[in-house]
Formats: sequence, C-alpha cells, structure tokens
Amino acid sequence: MAEINSDIIRAKVFLDANKLIGLPTETVYGLAGNGLKAEVVSQIFEVKNRPHFDPLILHTDSIETVKKYVKGVPDNAYKLMNAFWPGPLTILLERNHLIPDLTCSGLDRVAFRIPNHPKTLNLLKLLDYPLAAPSANPFGYISPTTSEHVQKQLGDKIPYILEGELSEVGIESTIVGFEKGKTIIYRLGGLEVDEIKKVVGEVTILPHSSSKPDAPGMLKSHYAPRKDIILGDIKSLIKKYSKLRIGTLSFSNFYEGVDMSLSLSATGNMHEAAKNLFSHLRKLDESNVDLIITEKVPQTGLGKAINDRLQRAAVKI
Ligand code: TXA
Ligand code: MG
Repeated sequence: MAEINSDIIRAKVFLDANKLIGLPTETVYGLAGNGLKAEVVSQIFEVKNRPHFDPLILHTDSIETVKKYVKGVPDNAYKLMNAFWPGPLTILLERNHLIPDLTCSGLDRVAFRIPNHPKTLNLLKLLDYPLAAPSANPFGYISPTTSEHVQKQLGDKIPYILEGELSEVGIESTIVGFEKGKTIIYRLGGLEVDEIKKVVGEVTILPHSSSKPDAPGMLKSHYAPRKDIILGDIKSLIKKYSKLRIGTLSFSNFYEGVDMSLSLSATGNMHEAAKNLFSHLRKLDESNVDLIITEKVPQTGLGKAINDRLQRAAVKI
C-alpha cells in the first residue's frame, strides 16, 4: 500500500528519485512523474496499463516554464492562460526537443496545464521539471477524486500519495488547441465552453472519433464502471429491469424501491454535480447492485462535460 501524507518535501524526494506518486489537483488526482525522462514516463504507461498512443499532460507552475518547452505561444493561447491558469484548462502547443517523444506519443504538440491546487502548486514550485500526470486510474476506468480512490486502484504500484482532500471540480480539464487560427476543443471538461468563448470568440468542438482519437478521453467507451450502466429515462428503466438489483444515479431525484439511489446534486447545482460524478459512480460500482441506471443532466454549463462522461461510461450495454 502507498503512504498517504500531506508532506510535499517527501513527495519531491520520491519524484527526484524517478518514482511515481499520486497527486491531487482540482480536477481529478493524477499519477505523476518527471515528464522530461522517458524512463519515468514509461512507468506511468505501465502502471496505468495505458496504450502508448495516448499522450500525457505536463503540469507546471508558471507560463514562463511552459515557454521553455514549446516553439511558440499563439496569442489566443496567451489569452486563455492569463484568463484561466491556474485552472481546469489544458493547452496543446508545438513542443521543442526537450520533451521526450514518449510523453507526447510522438505527436508534434505537447499538452500543458497549471493546476489550481495549493499543495500541488507548492510542490511544482520546488521541482525543476514539469510533471507528467494522467488521471490516476487504470486505463478506461473512473477517474479518482480522493486519495482513497488512488490507494484502492494503484496503491500497490506506487510508494506515495500526496493528500489533497476531495477534488473541487471533479471532472478532467478541458483540452484546447489551435489549428489554422481556429480554437479547437478536443475534450469537454472542468472549464465551461462559454467561458472560453468569452476570451477567444468562436470555438470548434471536435466531434468524437473512436478509431484514431486525438485524445483518448475521446474514445467512445471511457470513464466506465465495471458494472453495466444504462442511460435513459430512470423511471421507465426501473420498471423494465425490475427483476435486477438496481442502483440509480440521477441529477437531483431519489427513487424508492431500488437498492441504491444517489443524486448528483439535490439542489440541481451543476458544479456540485460535477464534483460528485465520479465518486458516486464509484459508490454504485462498489455496491451490490447488478445494474446502474442513470440519466442525462441539463446540457448547460458543465452539464455538457458531465453528459459526455455519462455517455462514454454507458456504452457498455
Ligand atoms: O484534469 C486533467 O486533465 C487530469 C489532471 C490529472 O490534470 N489529467 C488527465 O489526464 O485527465 P489523462 O491522461 O487522463 O487525459 C489526458 C488527455 C488524454 O486523452 C490525451 O490523449 C490528451 O489529454 N492529450 C495529451 N497530450 C496530447 C497531445 N499532445 N495531443 C492531443 N491530445 C493530448
Ligand atoms: Mg484519464
């Protein structure tokens, strides 16, 4: 089992020794290691059981540091960095020779983010390299939002998890890049599309691809619990599957007569819903229900990113 501790100096000792640690961020917990060393990055892929075509996000603490590793920063990228960093936004930029191929799966661009978590920001300030950190879950499974989630899934494979409480945002960062002067959103996430539009004007949301994804957060089946999960009208699905042990995950309702009933936000608050999404899915997955029945939330604000996760989690049936 990993040691869970809030000591950032101890975290640095492990990282400097080329080890991986669990790392809190405001979106989800990451599985972090030195992103400039191919042998460390290769351990990340191994521990997560992640395919090598799925590149990693680099985390650092300042725009100045990002500039050391990229060929240039488009104006719109600067605007977004200044508006939203530290925060749940990842930006794709042309990388230079300092970034190992493995970190970016051989692509020309590298993903950077300054996370908004006080402890992790303090740790990043102490390091002289950026941290590669995918979400700290086995590939394809639900992302972790507490140190306990990381312990359960990867605790036997890493020495240390930095304790950082429940992740404030609860879903992964929004991923943005630039193609021919256009701003493209490759993954919906913790920063709302409308917020990005306010800063750069029109954006293109890239349609999903399941064969050759630009970002495997775009794979059709992702974020999935091990239990079967169906998305639809909860009331009628409860009737249809009445012979099974049922767990429901609704936006703001509770249901009688099922084995477990959870709601993302009793008051219909979308930020609270995002924050609860992955931990509620986990609770249902770890319970004794046979089937998880869930519904789409309103398509407003973070609702788009929540629905995206629910849809991918639900392709199983
Ligand atoms: O909120 C987050 O972004 C969290 C926390 C830990 O920062 N990290 C996270 O990482 O969600 P991960 O590895 O689970 O998802 C990163 C996504 C992947 O789908 C990956 O393909 C995409 O970012 N990505 C990374 N580098 C890329 C690149 N050079 N080009 C295109 N997509 C890239
Ligand atoms: Mg992930």
